[in-house]
Amino acid sequence: MQQARPGINRRQRSPAADACLRVRLSRERHTPAHRPSGEPACGSDWAVKAVALRPSGEHAGRPHAAGIEGGNVVHEPDWKGPLGEAFEQAVAYLESLPERPVGSRADLDELRAALGGPLPEEPQDPREVVAALATAAEPGLMASGSGRFFGFVIGGATPAALAADWLTSTWDQNAGLHILGPAVSVAEEQAGRWLAELFGLPAGVSVGFVTGGQMANFTALAAARHEMLRRAGWDVETAGLPGAPPLRVLAGAGRHDTIDRALRFLGLGTGAIVPVEMDDQGRMHPDALRRALAGGRGPAIVCAQAGNVNSGAVDPLTEICEVAHEAGAWVHVDGAFGLWAAASPRLRPLVAGVELADSWATDAHKWLNVPYDSGVVLCAHPEAHRAAMGVRAVYLIHASGAERDEVDYTPEFSRRARSLPVYAAIRALGRSGVAALVERCCALASRFAEGLAAADGVVVLNEVVLNQVLVRFHAADGGHDAHTRRVVERVQDDGTCWMSGTTWRGQAAMRISVSNWTTDEADVDRSVAAILRCARAG
Ligand SMILES: Cc1ncc(COP(=O)(O)O)c(C=O)c1O
Repeated sequence: MQQARPGINRRQRSPAADACLRVRLSRERHTPAHRPSGEPACGSDWAVKAVALRPSGEHAGRPHAAGIEGGNVVHEPDWKGPLGEAFEQAVAYLESLPERPVGSRADLDELRAALGGPLPEEPQDPREVVAALATAAEPGLMASGSGRFFGFVIGGATPAALAADWLTSTWDQNAGLHILGPAVSVAEEQAGRWLAELFGLPAGVSVGFVTGGQMANFTALAAARHEMLRRAGWDVETAGLPGAPPLRVLAGAGRHDTIDRALRFLGLGTGAIVPVEMDDQGRMHPDALRRALAGGRGPAIVCAQAGNVNSGAVDPLTEICEVAHEAGAWVHVDGAFGLWAAASPRLRPLVAGVELADSWATDAHKWLNVPYDSGVVLCAHPEAHRAAMGVRAVYLIHASGAERDEVDYTPEFSRRARSLPVYAAIRALGRSGVAALVERCCALASRFAEGLAAADGVVVLNEVVLNQVLVRFHAADGGHDAHTRRVVERVQDDGTCWMSGTTWRGQAAMRISVSNWTTDEADVDRSVAAILRCARAG
């Protein structure tokens, strides 16, 4: 329970504090520098959010256990209660990760019962709310931060990134305009420069911090749409698409579905896609791309990929960029996870030529192990990027000098400062730490493949070039698809590890992605043993 501190609270305001409060309520911006002479200094309460004040009524004189008590706003909220509870719950959860079952243990009915109930009529103590939420949610959590979580392509959170994410919420900066959070704007600039350097991209690329790979693809393709139509003499931001020269989007048959979805959002439609043949690993054929480009006319965007979502294969980027640029096309690289190979001197050859592209999409919440949600778009044509995303409004205070307004690089207007955990992650890992993280995951994926392929009736379907492994389980009766799907389900129920299934070139497969910073050899060996146990279970 919070002790009343000397200073300002709802019931003990001094005349000076009252004056300060009135000033706060009447100003849009208030810093000590703006304070007219003669007005009292407001001390530490200066930054408290001013909200409606009502008489304290029947609750007067009671201690303030909560930020809102009996409908009255309290100006000395108890931060330590709920935040302390959240800290304890968070640490208990994080420390349970190495041994807790990886999958959720609660079913839908149990979760609805635990989290349901009528709309609360009365306020509740925030610490109790946090504790009750954690208790109710706990059995239904997917331990995706576990070292034995291999589902989809999902990373965990490193300590620096997670702690910076907490600060991001605490500071609650609106990362749209420099003026609304100068420190965030500058940290974001810096994080963007570090990322470009880690990926070996040209100096001066523009960077936007978006929610994930989906919005990174969307933003990059919006910049591409702007630029390719501008070169064709069309201003798409003003005139829209009716009557515009048709845009062709050439994309590998193994592209991620978020490319199609981005094209839907952009009004180009999935009908604009010209699918380009891929090889048996999911890589685009440059010759097929050349033929496809020659087979049509008009402005074109080529969507290449670094990291096929199933196999991890990377398109031959140098050749693709050369072929596409010869034809005057824009090259976008979806590198949601594969772009991180560029940060490793050992793996860099896999993505050779990536720096020749015009735009890139990647995720920090995948391989950098930054908490959700954290995607990044980078663009070699900052004017096109800004033309597609930039915004001006009479009531905003836009950057007028060297400052950078974040809003000009993302589709969001107001947003959280998601670049801060990226900044912290890169600082904590350093260039060598990022490279080691990526290399370790790839080495562990190979260990997985070797451990499973050594068993009878288990076949690894892909060349394991990155962190992805596709595995098929043969059945004595020849029903390999059904058996493979059964093995995946059994593994999910078993709880030792968690991964999902997929269909690869018409065959059911287990899909393993090693993306977590804590995964080690013991996690892989324990998981291999659990998978083989499930495969032999009849
Ligand atoms: C290659 C690729 N592109 C895009 C995405 C979408 O990323 P997000 O889920 O962060 O939006 C993914 C997600 O797995 C991916 O693997």
